[in-house]
Amino acid sequence: MAATATKLSSGHEMPAVGLGVWRMDSAAVRGLIHSALRAGYRHFDCAADYKNEAEVGDALAEAFETGLVKREDLFITTKLWNSDHGHVVEACKDSLKKLRLDYLDLYLIHFPVATKHTGVGTTGSALGDDGVLDIDTTITLETTWHAMEDLVSMGLVRSIGISNYDIFLTRDCLAYAKIKPASLAEKYGKTPAQLVLRWGLQRNTVVIPKTSKVERLEENFAVFDFDISVEDMEKIKALDRNYRTNQPAKFWGSNLYA
Ligand SMILES: NC(=O)c1ccc[n+]([C@@H]2O[C@H](COP(=O)([O-])OP(=O)(O)OC[C@H]3O[C@@H](n4cnc5c(N)ncnc54)[C@H](OP(=O)(O)O)[C@@H]3O)[C@@H](O)[C@H]2O)c1
Repeated sequence: MAATATKLSSGHEMPAVGLGVWRMDSAAVRGLIHSALRAGYRHFDCAADYKNEAEVGDALAEAFETGLVKREDLFITTKLWNSDHGHVVEACKDSLKKLRLDYLDLYLIHFPVATKHTGVGTTGSALGDDGVLDIDTTITLETTWHAMEDLVSMGLVRSIGISNYDIFLTRDCLAYAKIKPASLAEKYGKTPAQLVLRWGLQRNTVVIPKTSKVERLEENFAVFDFDISVEDMEKIKALDRNYRTNQPAKFWGSNLYA
């Protein structure tokens, strides 16, 4: 039986458990993917940089041919590598060719950094010959995101997203995105405020949000009709920046928490 799914902002469903293929030995890919399919896996997390898209593609093609699974029952993710930010369409087509697919379920920007182009799909090292990150300062992340959006209109990918973005880059992306990367709040059909309040409640913490707006009084009280999954609870916890908003050291000149 396939794993339960979560809905993305694009409206498509993503199976909640998938198989990541990073550091999977190329020779083992075919056997592992077929075993995973027989075990009920329907979601595979790939990347151009994992350098095994061709092996994954062969394994999937064989699974389709033998009737083990149908393409439309799978959720396939792959990722744009740093050196291909200036060549998004070509890189996506290269991944599709290697994976032997005509569309991706999800295409992610692997890291929020554009590095020197080394040839489409070659996933060159992020480091220059001098060992320093070889950043291509002519390409903005906004340009990359808009090229990702074009892939959706071209029908090459169903959903697009970001990976390894911190909270500031994520917020920046939300400001320029025509197609927004899926957020946890959207996934639950709730506002960000409701999500953080619910997070506190599920940690058995009492929450006392102040608001001067009546509509927000209602919003902040409507937090009992959903549950954040254990995995998403951890994701939110990982956002911790060890930052206190209430800092007596600033008001009284004495740091109570030193
Ligand atoms: N977007 C990104 O930048 C990014 C970054 C990291 C990872 N990922 C994705 O996430 C996937 C998983 O990440 P990951 O490989 O770093 O970490 P992981 O899946 O958390 O851990 C893999 C390790 O756990 C072991 N393991 C797996 N199941 C186990 C079990 N039931 N009991 C004990 N040990 C177990 C595996 O060993 P054996 O193989 O020996 O079982 C392997 O050493 C990757 O394949 C990739 O698709 C994405």
